[in-house]
Amino acid sequence: MNRILTSQTPDHKGEVVVIAGWVHTRRDHGKITFLDMRDREGLVQVVCTPQAKDAYETAQKARTEWVLRIEGMVQERPEGTKNPDIATGTIEIVAQAITVYSQAKTLPFAIDTDGYEIGEEKRLQYRYLDLRRPRLLHNLVSRHRVLQFMRDFLSKEGFIEIETPILTKSTPEGARDFVVPSRLYPGTFYALPQSPQQYKQLLQVAGIERYFQIARCFRDEDPRADRQPEFTQLDIEMSFVTQEEIMEVIERLYTDIVKTLFPEKRIQKSPFPRHNYKDVMEKYNSDKPDLRENKEDPNELAFAFVVNFPMFEWKKQENRWDAVHHPFTRPQTENIEAIKKDPGSILAFQYDLVLNGYEIAGGSLRTYRPDLLAGVFELMGNKKEDIQTKFGHLLEAFEYGVPPHGGIASGLERFLAVLLGEPNIREVMAFPKTGDSRDLMMHAPSELDPVQLKELGIETKKKLAQKKK
Ligand code: AMO
Repeated sequence: MNRILTSQTPDHKGEVVVIAGWVHTRRDHGKITFLDMRDREGLVQVVCTPQAKDAYETAQKARTEWVLRIEGMVQERPEGTKNPDIATGTIEIVAQAITVYSQAKTLPFAIDTDGYEIGEEKRLQYRYLDLRRPRLLHNLVSRHRVLQFMRDFLSKEGFIEIETPILTKSTPEGARDFVVPSRLYPGTFYALPQSPQQYKQLLQVAGIERYFQIARCFRDEDPRADRQPEFTQLDIEMSFVTQEEIMEVIERLYTDIVKTLFPEKRIQKSPFPRHNYKDVMEKYNSDKPDLRENKEDPNELAFAFVVNFPMFEWKKQENRWDAVHHPFTRPQTENIEAIKKDPGSILAFQYDLVLNGYEIAGGSLRTYRPDLLAGVFELMGNKKEDIQTKFGHLLEAFEYGVPPHGGIASGLERFLAVLLGEPNIREVMAFPKTGDSRDLMMHAPSELDPVQLKELGIETKKKLAQKKK
C-alpha cells in the first residue's frame, strides 16, 4: 500500500491507510498509547491498543523523533476528543502495524518552538534538525512559492531563464571576490560571480532581449543581518527599454506576488512612489528609508523607488572616484569631457527599490558606447592596459552591434525576510553561513589535503590558516 500524507487522512475515513513520518509526541495512558505523527504537512493522532499487540509494543518503545511507518484504520474521533487546532483533529488512526524505519537520539534542542530562544550556533550546527521547526519549513515553502511565481510571471512576459557560469572572472560589484584556483593553469584563478552582470549584458549583445535568472551571487564581505557571502538574486536584463519600463515590470511582479501569495499584507502606495536620491538623503539621511506610516503594523509594505543617484563617489582611502552602483551604469550625461571635469555632479540612470528600510533591488541602464565605457573605467583609476585585461571582452563585444539595454537585480532573501517578518535573512535560507562566514554543519571553510594543494601548485602560510580557525 502506498503511503499517504497526514493532510490526506481525513479523506479516508473507514479505510486502512499507511502513513510515515516522525514521532512528534508520545503519550502513554496504560492500556492505550497515543502517537502524534508528523510529516511535512502536519500532524495526525495514532491510537495504539493491545488489540494489535505488536504495534502496541512498538508504540510503547518508540520515542520522539523516531521515524515510523504506520498502517491503520482512519476513524472519526469520539465526541469531546476532537481537536479543532489541527487540520486532522476530527479523526485518528487506529494502528494495526508499525515498522520502525529509524531511531533517534535526544535532539540537541526543542523543535516545537519558534527557535529564536536557542543559540544560533547550535541551530546552524544542526540545521537539518532546526529545519524541522514549522516556522522554518513555512519559510522554505514560501521561498519556493515566490521563486515559482517569479519564474511563471517572467516566462509569461517573454523572458528567458538562462544560467550563467559560476567559475568566471572578476566583475566589480564593490565586494571582494571569492576565488577558485585552477589546476590546469597553476597560478591562475577563477572568480565566483559577485553577480552575473557582464554575462547578462553579453546576452543582450547575443540578442536575447529579455533575460532572467535566479542567480547565486558570491561576495567576500562581512555578513550582517541583511548580508550573506552567498545569496540569491532575481536577475533581469532587457534590451530597448527605458528606466521606467524596467521599474514597471518589477513593480507589477512584486505587487502580484504580494496580492497572490501574501494577501494579508497591505501595499501602502501603488504605484510605488519614485523619490530622488537627493531628496531622501536630505529628508531621511538614508538611501533606503523606511517609509511605513505605521511601523507597528507587521502587514504594512512601503515600497518605493529611489532614482537619480550620483554616478560617482570619491573614495578617500583609495584616492579615486568609484561608481556608486557599478561602472557599467549609464551616466545621465554622455559627454565624457563634462564627466571628467566634475564627476561628483553627474547623475546616473540608476534605481533602487526599497521596502520598509531595506534595499531589496538595484539596477541601472547601461553604457553601451565602448568609448564612453572605457572613459568611465579610466576615470575610476584603471590604466589603459588594465582596462583591456579586465574588460576587453566587453568592450570588444560592444563593437559588434549592441542594443541599448538595462536591468535590475532583486535580493530574494531580503524581500522574503520582510514579508515573513524575520529579523535576519538567515531565517529564510536553508543553509546560511554564520555571522563570521562559517558553515558550522559542514565545517567549511576547511584546510585542503596536501596532495590537493600540490596539484594546484599552492603553498599556504600555516600561521595565517591557524589564526583564522
Ligand atoms: P546590487 O549589488 O545592488 O546590484 O545587488 C542587487 C540586490 O541584491 C541584494 N544583495 C544582497 N543580499 C544578501 N546578501 C548580500 N551580500 C547582498 N548584496 C546585495 C540587495 C541588492 O539590492 N548586478 C547588479 C544589478 C544590476 O545592475 O542589474 C547588482 O548585483 O537586495
